[in-house]
Amino acid sequence: MTQQSNTDEIKKGLAGVVVDYTAISKVNPETNSLLYRGYPVQELAARCSMEEVAYLLWHGELPTQEELAAFEELERAGRALDPVVKRVIDELPTTAHPMDVCRTAASVLGARDTRAEDSSRATNLAKAADLFAAMPAVVAYDQRRRHSDSRGQDPIEPRSDLGYAANFLWMAFGEEPAPEVVRAFEVSMILYAEHSFNASTFTARVVTSTLSDLHSAVTAAIGALKGPLHGGANEAVMETFEEIGIDPSESHEDAKRRAKDWMDAALAQKKKIMGFGHRVYKHGDSRVPTMKAALDDLIAYYGRPEILGLYDGLEQSMDEAKGIKPNLDYPTGPAYHLIGFDIPTFTPLFVASRIVGWTAHVMEQLENNSLIRPLSAYNGPDERHLD
Ligand code: ACO
Repeated sequence: MTQQSNTDEIKKGLAGVVVDYTAISKVNPETNSLLYRGYPVQELAARCSMEEVAYLLWHGELPTQEELAAFEELERAGRALDPVVKRVIDELPTTAHPMDVCRTAASVLGARDTRAEDSSRATNLAKAADLFAAMPAVVAYDQRRRHSDSRGQDPIEPRSDLGYAANFLWMAFGEEPAPEVVRAFEVSMILYAEHSFNASTFTARVVTSTLSDLHSAVTAAIGALKGPLHGGANEAVMETFEEIGIDPSESHEDAKRRAKDWMDAALAQKKKIMGFGHRVYKHGDSRVPTMKAALDDLIAYYGRPEILGLYDGLEQSMDEAKGIKPNLDYPTGPAYHLIGFDIPTFTPLFVASRIVGWTAHVMEQLENNSLIRPLSAYNGPDERHLD
């Protein structure tokens, strides 16, 4: 084997490599902070709706009242499940992972979009808003069809008197959600909306850099998000909770003790624990305190102290053993469980939110495009010839 390139230059996983500018968000691992267009994400989560945050990420400024009203009208008009997408989903086995369903739906929506080949900013903004409006119906319908025994297979028609987050929960469960639940869910959506050049966003930018279309970029990004090292971790967190065992009658302290025992054994076996660690943040994920507060509200609302016990036990053991902090997927997993989503729906919820960030990056990439095409160092056989 030969090394034909300067292998000193190899940055495995592109770790530490700065590949471009972005004005959309700033992740600062030193201060554990995250800004969307200059605003701390904590402030946005506390004071803004998901619709306002989407507008901010796409346009660079928060909407005026008139702009927000116009955007809300557009979003509410695009909420119904596309009948062709419904037919395609109905053809898929109920065992299909919901991320595969989301990916397929994004692709079908692209193929049905008569503006597919128009990548002007105005058209891409319209496509992004349409996808943002459409994805909750896909996620909600797919969860319902997988539980047709208990929830009925028919999609629930959207309600135009509800905001984005409340309507999402309405379409998933067919019940008007409590304000506490809507708020916690909306906070999770805002926190998931954008995170600079993460793996799925970078995927969207790579696809866009070839001058492919917005739906192709989103479809590819969904594929990247599916993996457990990225978005799939929120599902894996809940699988860990289930493996430890969830007993709603258990006290916080008992659940915490069992979780600590589980973590100690898992770390002794050198297992990688999902929901912990981050490529960029080494001292804690900037979004976790805000999402943990939202989870605390849900735990209080549903009266489930044992969930907090499991959460605290795993977090404390990991911190003591390795000093590794939770990432955003750690509190969102149990939050989505408490709200009533089934585990395979967790990462699609991330999709519905991150569509905003992905599409903002698609538009930014096109503003100053350069084909993304790195080099590799060859380490295969030396040149050889057929006998
Ligand atoms: N559990 C146990 N050990 C861990 C974990 C973890 N979750 N995360 C990192 N480590 C350890 C590694 O074993 C490694 O130890 P070593 O040096 O003794 O071998 C060291 O910390 C560095 O870990 P890497 O995986 O090399 O760090 P990297 O920056 O490449 O990985 C990643 C970051 C992929 C997120 C990693 O922490 C991980 O796999 N976490 C679990 C998956 C997860 O939660 N992903 C969600 C990411 S955030 C998001 O998408 C919202």
